[in-house]
Amino acid sequence: MKNLFKTPISGKIVEIGPENKEDQIIFATETSCDETAAAVVLNGRTVLSNIVASQIDIHKKYGGVIPEIAARQHLETINLVIEEAKEKAGIKMQDITAFAGTAGPGLVGALLVGLNAAKSLSLVYDKPFIGVNHLNAHVCANYLESDFEPPFICLLISGGHTQLIRINSYSDQEILGETLDDAVGEAYDKVARLLDLPYPGGPCLDKLAREGDKNRFKFPEANVTDFDFSFSGLKTAVLRTCKDFSADDIPKADIAASFQEVVSETLLKKALKAAENGNIKKFALAGGVAANSEIRRKFFLQQDKGFIVHAPEFKFCTDNAAMIASAAYFNSNVMKELDTEVFSRKSPL
Ligand code: KG4
Ligand code: ZN
Repeated sequence: MKNLFKTPISGKIVEIGPENKEDQIIFATETSCDETAAAVVLNGRTVLSNIVASQIDIHKKYGGVIPEIAARQHLETINLVIEEAKEKAGIKMQDITAFAGTAGPGLVGALLVGLNAAKSLSLVYDKPFIGVNHLNAHVCANYLESDFEPPFICLLISGGHTQLIRINSYSDQEILGETLDDAVGEAYDKVARLLDLPYPGGPCLDKLAREGDKNRFKFPEANVTDFDFSFSGLKTAVLRTCKDFSADDIPKADIAASFQEVVSETLLKKALKAAENGNIKKFALAGGVAANSEIRRKFFLQQDKGFIVHAPEFKFCTDNAAMIASAAYFNSNVMKELDTEVFSRKSPL
C-alpha cells in the first residue's frame, strides 16, 4: 500500500516511505516531555542533524517534570532548535519532502508546541505534515545510522511505557504484552527517589548499581501472564528493605544493584520467551531505559547464542526528533489514524 500525503496548500500528492525510490528528507520536531528537539533525516536512516535541548536542569529541583513549566520552556526554545537543525543539516526548507511532529503520547501542553511548529512549517512551505506516534518512533530509532530491519522482537522500555512488540514489517506490528502498572523507567525513577538520588533517577541508579552487590537482596519477580510486566510490587519491596535500615546506613549501591538485577532478568526472560514463541532470533531494544548498561549487557550476551541483537546509539535511545523523522518515513501508514490523537501521560509527580 502506498503512503500518500497531500500538500496543504496546492493539494499535490506526495508518496512517503521506502517504496518511493526517490530521496526523501524529513524534518521532525519532538516535544512530548522534557526535551525540545528537531532533526533532519534522509530516507529514514541518515541523520543530517539532531538537535536536543534538555530541560533536566529546570525540572531537577522539583524531582520530576512539571507539565506547565515543560510546555512554556518548549515555547521558549523550539524556534532556536528548529533553526539549528536546519543550519547543521545544511539544507534549505524548500528541499524538505515532509514535516513531522510527535502527536502523542505525551504531556498535552508540551506536545502541542512541537506539533504546531511542524504543522506551521508544513503550511509555510506547502509540504505534507505527518503526525507520529512517540512509541513507534522509539522502535524506529533502531533504523537510524544502521541497516537493521524487521522482523524482530522489540523491547520498548521508556519512562512512560513498557511493551514487548513483534515487529513483522515496517508497517505491521503486534503488541505481545505490556506493563500492568509502572513503566520500567518509572520504576527506576521511583526507586532512585527512595534512594535519594538526583533526577533523572534512571541513569544515576544505573551508575550506582555498578558499585553494588546484586546478590545481597532477593527482590521478588512479579507473577503475571507470559508477556505482561508489573513493577509496583518490586518498588514496594525496595521501600520495605530501605526501612530495615536507619537513614544513614541504607546500603544504596547493593539495593540499586539487586533492583537492577531483577528488572533486567525479568525483561530478558520475557523477551526470550517471545522470541521462542515467534521463532525469531532477533532482538531490538528501544526507549530511554535501553541506555541502561546492565540491560544492554544481558541482551547483547545473547549474541553468543545465535541471536542478532540491536540497540540504538545512546543519543537515539532517549527522546529525540531523529526517531520521529524515521517513523514518519518508515511507518507513516501505521500512524495515519493516530495523527490527531493526543494522549495524556502520567506525570512522575
Ligand atoms: O524514552 P525516554 O527518554 O522518555 C519517555 O518517553 O519516557 O525515557 C526516559 C526514561 C526515564 O525514566 C529515565 O530515568 C530512563 O529513561 N533512563 C534510564 C537510563 N537512562 C535513561 N533508566 C535506567 N538506566 C539508564 N541508563
Ligand atoms: Zn520517549
